[in-house]
Amino acid sequence: MKFYRCQICGDPFMGDAKPSHCPFCGAHQDYISTAADWVDENQTIGELTEISRQNLEKALHLEVNNKAFYLDASGNADTIELQGIFKNLSKIEGEHASVIRKMLKVEAPDPDPGREAAGVSDHDNIVKARELEEAASAFYAQSALDASEQRVNKVFKVLSEIESDHIQLETALLDRGI
Ligand SMILES: [Fe+2]
Ligand SMILES: [Fe+2]
Repeated sequence: MKFYRCQICGDPFMGDAKPSHCPFCGAHQDYISTAADWVDENQTIGELTEISRQNLEKALHLEVNNKAFYLDASGNADTIELQGIFKNLSKIEGEHASVIRKMLKVEAPDPDPGREAAGVSDHDNIVKARELEEAASAFYAQSALDASEQRVNKVFKVLSEIESDHIQLETALLDRGI
């Protein structure tokens, strides 16, 4: 058994081999180090530029809102499988909020009162979730381009990839007829 640690979310975990994705934030394997080689990249961000701060603040709200959306969708899910999938997605979005919160050095806000709410239809929730993920992925890709700080650029690039993975997952669920 070895100890690994994610360069994006910072969480350590044990395993026999590097997983394909971080079990906490979903970052791809390239961003997983051994615990011994892990570096706290947040220590060297320095002062955030105004555009990065604004984008990170918007991203934090987005993640907190999407976490709440998936949690509601999990509670309303018709099957054990979807309950689990939505619950996992909620946890991942919560982990993303935590990644961003640490960069901004703030506490996570409550979900916005006017946020998108999940309904009772699994199909409709997946369709809505995919729209939310598409908006997030596109916003993060642009935010990566806006960022002159290496760490901020990297985090936004990776978050954009992870949300794209969620889009694919949700498309596959809809293709199954859910
Ligand atoms: Fe991670
Ligand atoms: Fe996310």
